[in-house]
Amino acid sequence: STCEPLKVMISGAPASGKGTQCELIVQKFGLVHISTGDLLRAEVSAGSEIGNKAKEFMNAGQLVPDEIVTAMVTARLSHEDAKTKGWLLDGYPRSFAQAQSLENLKIRPDVYVVLDVPDEILIDRCVGRRLDPETGKIYHLTNFPPETEEIKARLVTRPDDTEEKVKSRLEIYKQNAKAILSTYSNITKKIDGNRPKEMVFADIESLLSQAKREKMKKTTAV
Ligand code: AP5
Repeated sequence: STCEPLKVMISGAPASGKGTQCELIVQKFGLVHISTGDLLRAEVSAGSEIGNKAKEFMNAGQLVPDEIVTAMVTARLSHEDAKTKGWLLDGYPRSFAQAQSLENLKIRPDVYVVLDVPDEILIDRCVGRRLDPETGKIYHLTNFPPETEEIKARLVTRPDDTEEKVKSRLEIYKQNAKAILSTYSNITKKIDGNRPKEMVFADIESLLSQAKREKMKKTTAV
């Protein structure tokens, strides 16, 4: 179709469920998922120059310098697939400067989703989180245990998922959240993320379906 593809940003505190919801959004809407956390972790595993620079910041639960992350994201957004299928940006922008970089490039989403989860829940979600290095799937020891013993045996923990580091990540998130919100206040949709993941997704799904319909109307009206 001639309709412009959907552009979505998802934000929320550490472990608010961004990655979990992104898996479901991609299945349903076919958007290109761009997660700065995943991209950075891949650079670290590959031992690249970016990875070596980013590693110490990530392991300490601090933000990687803006210029490193911004270059990485803008390069990824300019790929053909993101232009034709639409994109789902997860974990960026994370500072006012990052939001301004996108504004300067006239890169703006249709919807800005914010997942809202109380602090005390976030700590437990991080400490119990496990990742499958083969499939990239996100698990939780009690909330979403692995399906088989084989998967269970290969699960890994993120080095920044200790209670102490989660607290520092949460502080940094709070320090930046308001300034970023001000950039997107007219398209912000806050969602209660402290519910079963299917219920959270049902809300996101109806939001994005509506945004899609509105875009189509605009295109056909021209
Ligand atoms: P990043 O990977 O983006 O980490 P984060 O924002 O802290 O988010 P998380 O990945 O921890 O959580 P999530 O919201 O995706 O939750 P998930 O779905 O996994 O960034 C990591 C680091 O990279 C940063 O600290 C920084 O150093 C660097 N970085 C990244 N972007 C950057 C940027 N733009 N600028 C500078 N630096 C940057 O869920 C969490 C757990 O909860 C899982 O175990 C899951 O199974 C469980 N769970 C999920 N949903 C539910 C539910 N509804 N009910 C119960 N449990 C649930």
